[in-house]
Amino acid sequence: MKNLFITLVVLGIIGIVACQSGQDTDAQEEPQATPQTKETTSYNIEDSVKVIGKKAAMTTFKALSAEVIRAIRDGGPQHAIKYCNVRANPLVDSVSKSLGVKIARVSHKRRNPANSANAYERELIKRYIEQLKAGEKPSPVVVNVDTGYIFYAPIVIEKPLCLTCHGVVGRELSPELHEFIKQHYPTDSAYNFRMGDLRGLWKIFVPKEKVS
Ligand code: HEC
Repeated sequence: MKNLFITLVVLGIIGIVACQSGQDTDAQEEPQATPQTKETTSYNIEDSVKVIGKKAAMTTFKALSAEVIRAIRDGGPQHAIKYCNVRANPLVDSVSKSLGVKIARVSHKRRNPANSANAYERELIKRYIEQLKAGEKPSPVVVNVDTGYIFYAPIVIEKPLCLTCHGVVGRELSPELHEFIKQHYPTDSAYNFRMGDLRGLWKIFVPKEKVS
């Protein structure tokens, strides 16, 4: 009961932050071009893909967090698991459509088999894990594919909320919830994570025509 209370308090705090994220709190003035300003002549595709990818990841993260928090408030973590089971990927798909990209989350330790990392992604995950171990900050990468580019960025566990459903069994993740998760995801391996661990990758496909 005490744990649930703490979880709810934490969720409340995150909820407030999430709700405020759209407000304009930046009081600084925008920089303005002057007659002396030089026009940009080089057009860096990689940078454009990164800008689009970061925006897509952030938009999806906010939408998913808001939905998970609402679902937990409405019916507790079990209700939220059922909700994610049905709604997580469709929600990601609808954000994809609205931004004209294809957003996915992949992991070496995934809950939904549809989110399994492929061979290239496993290598990238290994590299990110080593960087985190060495105290470095892993940074996004852009790769070329046939019809466009894929933006990859690390997903690191930074919020206690995540551990409610992905944490160490018997500590943050209760054995009951763990059992319940297994009923919906029999091959789940997305647990026993700790704060600061790499949880997986954002994978955002940006079609060529969006950046050329
Ligand atoms: C209420 C429980 C719950 C919470 C809280 C939660 N998740 Fe999940 N998470 C799930 C479920 C269920 C899935 C599988 C969704 C699906 O079917 O696609 C999932 C899937 C994921 C995936 C996709 C890869 C995979 O394993 O299938 C990532 C990445 C992820 N979660 C990260 C996070 C992060 C980071 C947080 C904290 C901000 C978080 N989750 C909070 C339940 C939760």
